[in-house]
Amino acid sequence: MDMAGSYEKTRAAALADPAGFWAEVARGIDWVKPWDKVVDDARKPFYRWFAGAELNTCYNCLDRHVERGRADQLALVYDSPLAGAQRKFTYRELRDEVARCAGVLRGMGVQKGDRVVIYMPMVAEAAIAMLACARIGAVHSVVFGGFAAPELAKRVVDARPKVMMSASCGLLPGKAVPYKPLLDEALEIAGAPDTPCLVLQRPELRCEMVAGRDVDWQDAMSRAEPADCVPVAATDPLYVIYTSGTTGKPKGVVRDNGGHAVALRWSMEAVFGAQPGDVYWAGSDVGWVVGHSYIVYGPLLQGCTTILYEGKPVGTPDAGAFWRVCAEHGVNVFFTAPTAFRAIKKEDPEGALVKRYDLSRFRTLFLAGERGDPDTIEWAQRILGVPAIDNWWQTELGWPAISNCMGIEVLPVHPGSPTKPVPGFDIRILDEEGNEKPAGEIGSLVIKLPMPPGTLYTLWNNEKGYEETYLSRYPGYYLSGDAGFVDAEGYGWVMSRIDDIINVAGHRLSTGQMEEILASHPDVAEAAVVGVADALKGQVPLGLVVLKSGVKHSDEEVCRDLVARVRSQLGAVADFKSVHVVARLPKTRSGKVLRVTIRTMADGGEVKVPATIEDDAVLPEIKAALAALGYPRAPA
Ligand code: COA
Ligand code: AMP
Repeated sequence: MDMAGSYEKTRAAALADPAGFWAEVARGIDWVKPWDKVVDDARKPFYRWFAGAELNTCYNCLDRHVERGRADQLALVYDSPLAGAQRKFTYRELRDEVARCAGVLRGMGVQKGDRVVIYMPMVAEAAIAMLACARIGAVHSVVFGGFAAPELAKRVVDARPKVMMSASCGLLPGKAVPYKPLLDEALEIAGAPDTPCLVLQRPELRCEMVAGRDVDWQDAMSRAEPADCVPVAATDPLYVIYTSGTTGKPKGVVRDNGGHAVALRWSMEAVFGAQPGDVYWAGSDVGWVVGHSYIVYGPLLQGCTTILYEGKPVGTPDAGAFWRVCAEHGVNVFFTAPTAFRAIKKEDPEGALVKRYDLSRFRTLFLAGERGDPDTIEWAQRILGVPAIDNWWQTELGWPAISNCMGIEVLPVHPGSPTKPVPGFDIRILDEEGNEKPAGEIGSLVIKLPMPPGTLYTLWNNEKGYEETYLSRYPGYYLSGDAGFVDAEGYGWVMSRIDDIINVAGHRLSTGQMEEILASHPDVAEAAVVGVADALKGQVPLGLVVLKSGVKHSDEEVCRDLVARVRSQLGAVADFKSVHVVARLPKTRSGKVLRVTIRTMADGGEVKVPATIEDDAVLPEIKAALAALGYPRAPA
């Protein structure tokens, strides 16, 4: 098929008539009741998609495929080198499991609109839990297992869940990580210790159950009556997912049912070029947005087989793990983060392990979650012999906003750029005053409202926060928080953040939040955390602290304590391992900490001493502290 010009045509159609364009795309979803309005703009700048319509997301993911010829096709494959286990579910089997799990939730008192917090490892039951919530119109909030109890507690406080769903442990190379003690601690911290918990006992590490409160997953499933799909409004919430903001309080991004189903299914076809029956694998975790959109909802809405992988790119057992999964399950489309490829490249620089596997069904690799550095993109293409497609988006957006759209028209790749705006996203680059920047000039990356379906429509319990964080900086536009430019050919380039968010192994973290944790230590007077470049993880956090006078502990003791605090308060996922005591921090005369200067020094860049610096004699002291932590790193 000649696709030439299709991209421009589709993009123009979506911009000229969003309502007409998305009404047509919405035909890919089964509705219980049609909409009154495709895009409801009565409360600008708060737009709602498919107002008046009703549907059920779980029905669209499972039942309709069972009813229309996919009952015996595989829907979900769980593959765990860590547990040494695999489980396969056809669409019929998955529908039945999900219906039973929904029945369990019903039995525990969960009704439409109630919240359920899911704190689970990468097991099939995690996806089943999410779909079971969707089936009865409950709103799920999945929390990544690498977060510590206080972080889980914040999400419990915000969502006030009817039920918690969890497991006895998660698995990491060489160890089982207990989840249940964290769950118990989080409920205590949240002041909700009596919240009913549905707990999956895993054979690798069983847990204590609280009598009268905790319910055994397998036991409950064996006795449950299946629950049917409950129609919900297209505008009702499907899930909340928390993401890092600039403060210690995470932001609860809310996704609706209707717009989400429409956009996600279409993205499978238009962006990923995945057809019903294809095998699609997102190598991420259900705790992240990539896991929500592309392990669970997207592939199932489109009638694909989805892979849920509990393992790592390396060490489970080797750097060929991804190729083993692709070959064994016949993966057509694979999506992961560049950091995973950097990990593989380090262990298998020539890609020798690729040759051991039959990857003949593998068509396209997608990389996102952090900047796709040209070296990694080019290396991936070379060893795999398939296109590696960088795509830019965020938790808030829910699906790719800048990408090469493999199902519309394949555009030439410019390594380092995620290519062009996906039809429906009107990307602009603005200066401080809100004027559009000329091609090639860096500015604030924004999206003109209304954004397409599937993007966030509010923050949980916090519409004001939504407006203030995203919509008020430039009226009429969504503020992404990223800086970048659009070149003369219309390619987007995303270069950095405009705030204190950093990206560690594809995980989004707030240095401000880490600073709050450090500063709350009784010995610490002030703290600065910056994200420094890391050859494997993209960025890692690095802290400098000033101690109060008269501190009794040694610097080493305080630093050890600080590392442990970030781990126990935020989580292992923060990867906070480098911190050093300094006599003072570099500051401007008005008292602002010069974080960019610290970061530039740590990265070995050329430091332009800011004219506003309070005292430049501090810089050699900072240099010495960074050197003690091993920065700048020697080139790899
Ligand atoms: N439960 C508990 N702890 C967890 C966890 C979980 N589910 N997942 C990770 N952790 C811990 C790890 O054990 C590690 O702790 P450590 O400091 O004791 O070693 C820490 O959190 C950081 O984990 P991770 O970022 O996974 O680093 P790593 O060094 O173990 O592995 C990679 C590095 C590159 C292999 C890994 O980050 C990876 O596979 N990335 C793939 C990309 C990805 O998933 N991106 C998500 C968005 S698409
Ligand atoms: P998250 O919300 O965790 O998905 O993180 C989103 C952030 O990761 C974005 O705002 C960017 O800063 C960064 N990011 C994600 N994908 C890309 C990409 N392809 N290129 C550049 N930055 C990216």
